[in-house]
Amino acid sequence: MLIKKPGDIKPSEITDQQVYLERRRFMGVASRSLAALAAGMTAPALLAGSADAEAAAKLSGIRKSALSTGEKPTSYKDVTSYNNFYEFGTDKFSPAQQAGSLITRPWTVSVEGEIKRPKVYDIDELFKLSPLEERIYRLRCVEGWSMVIPWVGFPLNELIKRAEPTGNAKYVEFTTLHDPRQMPGQRSGVLDWPYVEALRLDEAMHPLTLMAVGLYGEELPKQNGAPIRLVVPWKYGFKSAKSIVRIRFVSNPPTSAWMKAGPGEYGFFANVNPTVDHPRWSQAKERRIGEIFKRDTLMFNGYGDQVAQLYSGIDLKKYF
Ligand code: MTE
Repeated sequence: MLIKKPGDIKPSEITDQQVYLERRRFMGVASRSLAALAAGMTAPALLAGSADAEAAAKLSGIRKSALSTGEKPTSYKDVTSYNNFYEFGTDKFSPAQQAGSLITRPWTVSVEGEIKRPKVYDIDELFKLSPLEERIYRLRCVEGWSMVIPWVGFPLNELIKRAEPTGNAKYVEFTTLHDPRQMPGQRSGVLDWPYVEALRLDEAMHPLTLMAVGLYGEELPKQNGAPIRLVVPWKYGFKSAKSIVRIRFVSNPPTSAWMKAGPGEYGFFANVNPTVDHPRWSQAKERRIGEIFKRDTLMFNGYGDQVAQLYSGIDLKKYF
């Protein structure tokens, strides 16, 4: 997601990432193991690396959702070690190594703006707001890779209905925690912090739009956006803001962190669209993490039957 000039992009950044991933994983495990052995750690402690070192809490009473894809989920290891979370570094492996410094309890989410019932929710209240569902969704990153992730969460519209938006509420803005002491990446100017994303109110109300609090049946690992994040499966992954502390209803379209960083590259809608290239690379194909050959990217990431009507009459080349 870094803003680079066309000449700076090497094809290997996209095509050879699986090889790179394996190499980094091997090097990471090897160097951690050596350091830990020197410190006299035992085998189980060795296996549990950095941010994954804390045992993830199991979530109970999870319903299966009819909205899940039947595709095979990406491995837990890949889902939790190959991440984008610039608050913890700009490469894919830093979040799993550095996100241990994030404190996820106590945590509150302020729901505010153009609504009749503003409220500051304690995170544990949000876990109980609505029955938790497992939603196995495709995630397509704007950089050209994809995963299939068994999220656990509840539809955002459950929260919106309780907030009772006023007639002036047209957009919903999501803001990530801003605390450079916990989030070392925020000490750099790589983005204009805090990370902000937004949806149109009807997109936010769509039954597919999920507030995720877990994955693979457990609470979210920190590198995946604990304790609560957005998941919008028909949009590029950057729309799915992590570690959210504020949800604000507004009348004008908010400017997201990525729109500020690269207005010509990252649009407000960011719908997955194989026919609209990123200015620096094609979006026609993607590499599913864990697979060797690229596959075709699907319009709206394969969720067109459910969401295409949200954009009828809109020129998606212009409004990318
Ligand atoms: N949210 C915050 N706060 N900061 C980020 O850097 N990266 C986004 C999105 N949410 C990001 C974020 C991008 S580019 C992607 S692809 C997804 O998170 C990745 O989610 P994952 O690491 O759980 O797969």
